[in-house]
Amino acid sequence: MHTGREVLMVNQTWMGKARLAQLVDKHGPAFFILEEHVFRKNLRDLRAAFECEYATPIIGYSLKTNYTPRICKLALEEGAKAEVVSEMEYDLALRAGFPPEKIIFNGPLKPKQALYRALSQGATVHIDSPHEIDLIEKYLSEKNAHPVECSVRCNFPISGQKNTRFGISTESSDIDDAFARLSRLHGCTPVGVHCHFSTSDRSLNSYAERVQKVIDIAQRVFSHDHPCRYIDIGGGFFGRMPQALLDQFPHKIPSYAEYAAVVGERMRAAFPCRDVTLVIEPGTMVVADTMKFICAVDNIKKVGAKHYVTVYGSVHNIKPSGRSRILPSMTVVHMGEEEPVDLHDADICGYTCIEDDILATDFSGAIAPGDLLIFDNVGAYSTMYKPPFIRAQPAILGWDGTQISLVKRQEHSSDIFATYVFDN
Ligand SMILES: Cc1ncc(COP(=O)(O)O)c(C=O)c1O
Repeated sequence: MHTGREVLMVNQTWMGKARLAQLVDKHGPAFFILEEHVFRKNLRDLRAAFECEYATPIIGYSLKTNYTPRICKLALEEGAKAEVVSEMEYDLALRAGFPPEKIIFNGPLKPKQALYRALSQGATVHIDSPHEIDLIEKYLSEKNAHPVECSVRCNFPISGQKNTRFGISTESSDIDDAFARLSRLHGCTPVGVHCHFSTSDRSLNSYAERVQKVIDIAQRVFSHDHPCRYIDIGGGFFGRMPQALLDQFPHKIPSYAEYAAVVGERMRAAFPCRDVTLVIEPGTMVVADTMKFICAVDNIKKVGAKHYVTVYGSVHNIKPSGRSRILPSMTVVHMGEEEPVDLHDADICGYTCIEDDILATDFSGAIAPGDLLIFDNVGAYSTMYKPPFIRAQPAILGWDGTQISLVKRQEHSSDIFATYVFDN
């Protein structure tokens, strides 16, 4: 049963209906609110959790998860590096102010020019395939090439995940060959080992497994004379969630402290002097709970015995990857434009023509056209993944606890049409 509420609580501060109505007038019937304090706090708490268990980690914030420039800038201000997987993300990191040495360049496809730029600017490059070692060899053979340091993404099986296509296999001698080749290249120093997995249960066991495997590989390919400088265990962690969302999972969601304990225990055992840096690449973990999606109810209708509430939002706004059935929790703000009607087991439906564009099912409660719906925990992938399908992107508004600022204006049809050729 949804009870509805009069005000929206963001960042422990109450934002009244009058202000919400102004935001709708100014930015349209759908927008995101980015809670900047929450993002800062997440990064600080995460760093503190790993500091307690091992040593100060390097946090490589995963831009793909949400590359809104304001978020990138907050990550930079909080001391994080930028983890990128394309030239576009690399450009964005630079534009947000990350110096190249604070950029980690991952990904399965690094065009030659993009790789050369990253190498010459001193970014951290994580090699994904032997082809990239060929490119590094070519780069180093050119005159004026800068000496480079690089690491290799490892590919190994872990429980609960089907085989991955990323990285170089550690199940054969491929990984040894890769490190041997890199060590032989004049001007190249291998410095670290990387992995990243995204298992569906994001469990503590899977972190125990991955960190141990990466440590074993580091101990296999590095030596006293060529020491390992860092271990990068990627991202893939769960973040914090409101209770209504937690209740939808069939298993317990680990906390920052629990992830840090599992990883830290193994890092301490392997590196008692704590001289090998731990790198983590969180995306979802630090950004998912920093955004809310707010959209207005357009109309309510009945087909047979069932009520349908059509809103200025889509499942593409709140869950574009559609990877599981778990949906963000929703609350209703009564705006008082029309008399609410009491509904039972209604579907809250998106504006698209897709039959299963349903933002919430089994809604029971009072609701009226003009009311606003608030979906929590939509900061990860939602704004990045949404297709320009049927409606353009809503605005993103930043909220620092006192002030609202524009982070991204509402897109218009002209933004969508801008790259098409109309006159041929
Ligand atoms: C290499 C790498 N690091 C970090 C991440 C962030 O993952 P998540 O958002 O699950 O934390 C990803 C996501 O795909 C990734 O590919």
